[in-house]
Amino acid sequence: MSIRTLDDLLAEGVSGRRVLVRADLNVPLDKQSGAITDHNSASAPQGGTPDGVRIADDGRIRAVLPTLGALVEAGAKVVVCSHLGRPKGAPDPQFSLGPVAGRLGELLGAPVHFATDTVGDSARSTVAGLADGQVALLENLRFNAGETSKDEAERGAFADQLAAFGDAYVDDAFGAVHRKHASVYDVPARLPHVAGRLVLREVEVLSKLTGDPERPYVVVLGGSKVSDKLAVIEALLPTVDRLLIGGGMCFTFLKAQGLEVGTSLLEKDMVETCRNLLERADGKILLPVDVVVADAFAPDAAHDTVRVDGIPSHRLGLDIGPETVAGFAAALSQAKTIFWNGPMGVFEMAAFAAGTRGVAEAITKADAFSVVGGGDSAAAVRALGLDESSFGHISTGGGASLEYLEGKTLPGIAALEN
Ligand code: 3PG
Ligand code: MG
Repeated sequence: MSIRTLDDLLAEGVSGRRVLVRADLNVPLDKQSGAITDHNSASAPQGGTPDGVRIADDGRIRAVLPTLGALVEAGAKVVVCSHLGRPKGAPDPQFSLGPVAGRLGELLGAPVHFATDTVGDSARSTVAGLADGQVALLENLRFNAGETSKDEAERGAFADQLAAFGDAYVDDAFGAVHRKHASVYDVPARLPHVAGRLVLREVEVLSKLTGDPERPYVVVLGGSKVSDKLAVIEALLPTVDRLLIGGGMCFTFLKAQGLEVGTSLLEKDMVETCRNLLERADGKILLPVDVVVADAFAPDAAHDTVRVDGIPSHRLGLDIGPETVAGFAAALSQAKTIFWNGPMGVFEMAAFAAGTRGVAEAITKADAFSVVGGGDSAAAVRALGLDESSFGHISTGGGASLEYLEGKTLPGIAALEN
């Protein structure tokens, strides 16, 4: 792999140079009424963002600090860009990066100059006004149709505008390297480019899993949809020793075993595929034996634990049960390498959090190299108050880490090569 790194760029000297950093600051936001915004930096926007927006988990902001800190210290003019959520190619205040600018400033210990557009007048004057060692954040890249366009020329035109803000480009947006987007794929073709500290660390860790992982290698998959995980299940099946499946997606597998799943999440068109996977899995796939079923998808819904062959027709499963947790924990305790992606239940509701907590705790207790992949799983670790340092690595990428494990060529990594 011939990727140049941040250290190479720093060795050239960046003092007084404008360095454009693609970060993944796509953090989860809470939109509870009455919540206060999480920022108090003087340069954070006073208007433009709806009241009551709070950053629910700032892990992705923290993850990019080593790269930004090094550039600030070296005297670069640092221009940060990112997406947030999935706005449709036009400004949409609920997806403003304004609150993120405030939080980033707090964490850096210096104000972040926020541009209220991405490549317009505000961006131009904000970048032009930067002194050495100062940081600017541009407004959401996806407020511009060119960012995600399938049309090369449209993407290219937007990339030209972005590239004009930098003398060099650093990709530290691991969570977005699987996207063929202007800021990820086309800008590095226009500027000297390097990988930031986060991207390097993520690739280093994940390559251990695709290389020759120490065995037993146990993978835990959860989350709602089988269809999202199908490619990674296919890719992992020959390599893993055990594949533990929980979360909403387990019900399609249970259905494939001929069980009734009540009103649980079910992807009908995937049942046949799941049946086929189970047949080929050679006993490697472990499914729940008990689940927590509820009357409704609500935090206060009446609920009980039942065996998987006794799910009532009018109830839906929202978590794996205690016997399943014990079985999964036993498999995990044997492991030498663990990859976990996707919660085991609706962990955001206390009544349905025990499965995710139990599996997470079993991972921390195992004498194994463990990798947590995916925004939701990483947020679950922090929301449940678990010690992040008891995991080997917590990836900032969900889709990106899965596609890496699938062995796909990732556009953002390919763009950094040579
Ligand atoms: C993520 O949250 O997985 C990354 O930030 C990428 O976001 P996307 O799935 O909207 O492209
Ligand atoms: Mg995603």
